[in-house]
Amino acid sequence: MSKIVLTVACLLALALAVAAIAPPRAETDAERQARLKWWTDARFGMFIHWGLYALPARHEWVKSNERMTDEAYARYFAHFNPDLYNPREWARAARLAGMKYFVVTMKHHEGFCLWDSKLTDYKATRTPYGQDLIKPLIEAMRAEGLRVGFYYSLLDWHHPEYTVDMHHPMRDDKAFVEKSKTRDLGKYADYLFAQVREILTEFGRIDTLFLDFSFPGANGKGRNEWRSEKLLKMIRKLQPGIIVNDRLDLLDVAGGWDYRTPEQFMPREWVKVDGKPVPWETCQTFSGSWGYDREESTWKSVRQLVAMLIETVSKGGNLLLNVGPTARGTFDARAVERLQGIGAWMEKNGRSIYGCTQAPAQFPAPANCLLTYNVEAKRLYVHVLEWPLGVLALDGFAGRVEYAQLLHDASEVPFTEKGGQVGFMPGSRGREAENTLTLRLPVRKPDVEVPVIELFLK
Ligand code: GLC
Repeated sequence: MSKIVLTVACLLALALAVAAIAPPRAETDAERQARLKWWTDARFGMFIHWGLYALPARHEWVKSNERMTDEAYARYFAHFNPDLYNPREWARAARLAGMKYFVVTMKHHEGFCLWDSKLTDYKATRTPYGQDLIKPLIEAMRAEGLRVGFYYSLLDWHHPEYTVDMHHPMRDDKAFVEKSKTRDLGKYADYLFAQVREILTEFGRIDTLFLDFSFPGANGKGRNEWRSEKLLKMIRKLQPGIIVNDRLDLLDVAGGWDYRTPEQFMPREWVKVDGKPVPWETCQTFSGSWGYDREESTWKSVRQLVAMLIETVSKGGNLLLNVGPTARGTFDARAVERLQGIGAWMEKNGRSIYGCTQAPAQFPAPANCLLTYNVEAKRLYVHVLEWPLGVLALDGFAGRVEYAQLLHDASEVPFTEKGGQVGFMPGSRGREAENTLTLRLPVRKPDVEVPVIELFLK
């Protein structure tokens, strides 16, 4: 009898051990698509870069760019007091701009933590402000219906065990470099693991994680230094539904990333890996710097930003648009103006963005236009960047469209096709080609930043 019990116990122990070491079953393409669905439908999110660098207000890399010592940088910690911080205003601004998720810098390269981490004193609660910045932000964003994402810097220019590399602020100080040779990066990695565990356990469901960044090679840091595979396993275990970016130096590892992150540039086409289109998100700034930059003067216009969003979706991607709040805790006027401008456009035209993707190849975009496509609704959206003279010819569209309207006011756009009369010219038939569908547009460009024509496909 006791023998049987013993055998059963042994078998059970063995089964448990096997389960613990068995690698997790690889996700199928369809499963991954389903996990990412809310995100690929959302298309538009807000990046928030906020930290001590808001005080010097000249780029979030200021500590590294200006080779600042910890002592020199300490003045920003000592004066951090965002007295006007009202996350409900931020959340409202994000929602009204049409954004569906946000990603906030929990810690940037400077090492300063916006949440009340138990693992360090280098955090908001120890500054003159004295309060946690993250819980109220998450609460406010969730209340406005936005999903929650964290940015966490793998680099850390404050941690005493973080070794001096080519990006470190003290890299040119020979004495410092010499002294820091005793640093133990393994201890920093322990801290990194513990912090990531903390942010993924203390704030409820976290939807996305943006880890930044790897620079493998001599004097660099990558998967070995961060223990990336182990880290990612822990992340997926703590938050099974989470969507993780591609900066852990695991591009060649199955399941090592969920989406690609072209930064501050527009890919020429849908981003591909091994010839296959993959989920991607471009992160973009209003003006070049991620952190609040007072003197930065290359701010993009509302029109450029709207076009950027459309172009991103027309290539199957997401746009994560960055705001760098000030050290008072506010979005500055230039950011507010642009968010409102985008929001005015999105309010009427968001249907051509949410749940949309690249148009099928049989619908080529006419000159000065960008197309997006809603597969489920079977609707095609023609974004007209330059308003043409009365007509817009869509080659290859004849016989495929049931109805057309301007999206912002749902007013009909009549069309002709299959050889209809276009205009008069002596000696010419003046007729359109057989496969062309010609939209008859109002002469005046409608009063929206980028007019959209919604085509209901047959
Ligand atoms: C970069 C920069 C950083 C910024 C990030 C956004 O890797 O180091 O300052 O936060 O990109 O994608």
